[in-house]
Amino acid sequence: MSGTSSEAVFRTNLSLPGRRQGKVRDVYRASDAAGAPLLIVATDRLSAFDVVMPTPIPGKGRLLTAMSLGWFGFLRAKGIVRDHVIGTDLSGVAGLSDAERTMLAGRSMLCRAAKVVPIECVARGYLAGSGWNEYRAHGTVCGLPLPPGLALSSRLPEPIFTPATKAEEGHDENISFARACDLVGRPVMERLRALTLSIYAAAAEYALARGVILADTKFEFGFALDAAGNPTDELILVDEVLTPDSSRYWPADGYAPGREQASFDKQFVRNHLLELVSQGRWNKEAPGPELPESVVSATIGRYEEALARLALPPFAGGSR
Ligand SMILES: Nc1ncnc2c1ncn2[C@@H]1O[C@H](COP(=O)(O)OP(=O)(O)O)[C@@H](O)[C@H]1O
Ligand SMILES: [Mg+2]
Repeated sequence: MSGTSSEAVFRTNLSLPGRRQGKVRDVYRASDAAGAPLLIVATDRLSAFDVVMPTPIPGKGRLLTAMSLGWFGFLRAKGIVRDHVIGTDLSGVAGLSDAERTMLAGRSMLCRAAKVVPIECVARGYLAGSGWNEYRAHGTVCGLPLPPGLALSSRLPEPIFTPATKAEEGHDENISFARACDLVGRPVMERLRALTLSIYAAAAEYALARGVILADTKFEFGFALDAAGNPTDELILVDEVLTPDSSRYWPADGYAPGREQASFDKQFVRNHLLELVSQGRWNKEAPGPELPESVVSATIGRYEEALARLALPPFAGGSR
């Protein structure tokens, strides 16, 4: 853990209850109370192909937190969906040292705790990644038939909702809408599909006006917990939103279907790793390889450029 604000943060170990470590975020309860807010800390870890790399990307956690908060503010202004953000002021959280507060500044959010719906809600406006692979093999994405003749990176006739299971371990798996309904219920899935597509439409339109294509993105939703820690029926947007970790962002200038796009997300790292795989130097399993400085700096540079281009206003709170 770092004492200064500019050192990379690979892992945190705060004396708060309920510590959970995701691939990128460390999550704590802000107090012992059952329904207490969560402290979500974005570290500088980077995961690719669902493997956490041993090399941190210094500053990534702060960039992603800024971008996520910017989008939460944007969505609040649009009034599309309620969300989990309480704020970034940690002065009410007891038990943190001054050094920890410095380390956490800019990379953490206090959020309402929720019972997360175990479905990754993906919206796609363009054909890429696992969507392209399924389309090439079967002409469908998550079982949804698409018109013939689409190419890699093609814009879809209209954005589609393509759910995936939220795997505790290993890779998420694309599933059909019907399968998602079997897992969590049709009424919930219908609400999630409508919310996902509305958020995607608003964000994609905003981004495109700033020269950025939001090719696809993933949301998580949950049922907010009450003070006793029990789930209510209030469905809220949780997790990070519309960051380069959860989305494919492409520069609009230079976009052309029929090939991979230069991208503002992790594609740079992924390409580096795929090169290692093709050379037999990595097998896509943990542990990942150390990343060279050139890949670290190019990656943070891409994230910075995405944030600058999007120019989201700073998060100002407001009605959630
Ligand atoms: N409001 C919330 N309530 C409960 N859990 C949340 C909330 N927001 C995010 N989470 C969870 O916190 C974790 C964030 O850590 P992350 O590194 O993204 O994990 P993962 O490896 O699952 O992607 C995720 O498991 C996410 O589902
Ligand atoms: Mg995550």
